[in-house]
Amino acid sequence: MRSDGFRSSANHMQHGDVSVMKHSIRVAKTAIGLSHKLGIKVSERDLVRGALLHDYFGYDWHGKKVGLYEIIHFYKMHGFTHPGTALKNAERDFDLNNRQRDIIKKHMWPLTIKPPACREAWLVTMADKYCSLMETLRIHH
Ligand SMILES: [Fe+2]
Ligand SMILES: [Fe+2]
Repeated sequence: MRSDGFRSSANHMQHGDVSVMKHSIRVAKTAIGLSHKLGIKVSERDLVRGALLHDYFGYDWHGKKVGLYEIIHFYKMHGFTHPGTALKNAERDFDLNNRQRDIIKKHMWPLTIKPPACREAWLVTMADKYCSLMETLRIHH
């Protein structure tokens, strides 16, 4: 959390007025909370690291609005491509293990045809969908 890379994600907006950094911290907290609520045993270190880096794609994906076609095209592409970009950036800046890689790579499931391969990745994909919806509807606190 103290790294320059992670801190720069405060400048990238994710949903509405929520930065990637804020969104990622929220997803980590929600996923940990879910694991407690559901009584699912997890590696909390992997869960938190994966969640914090799941959107580590490093650009502001709202900056590219041009026309309606470009908006639709870019939003569609972003959904498919950003997990791969996030993983590439995370590998460059941090030491990841396979579980952390799986969390980042699969968090957009079912867009990423292959389903999550560990409990931690399932929890993050659920937490991400929940947080994204709340942030898009602006009912987060
Ligand atoms: Fe994402
Ligand atoms: Fe996300």
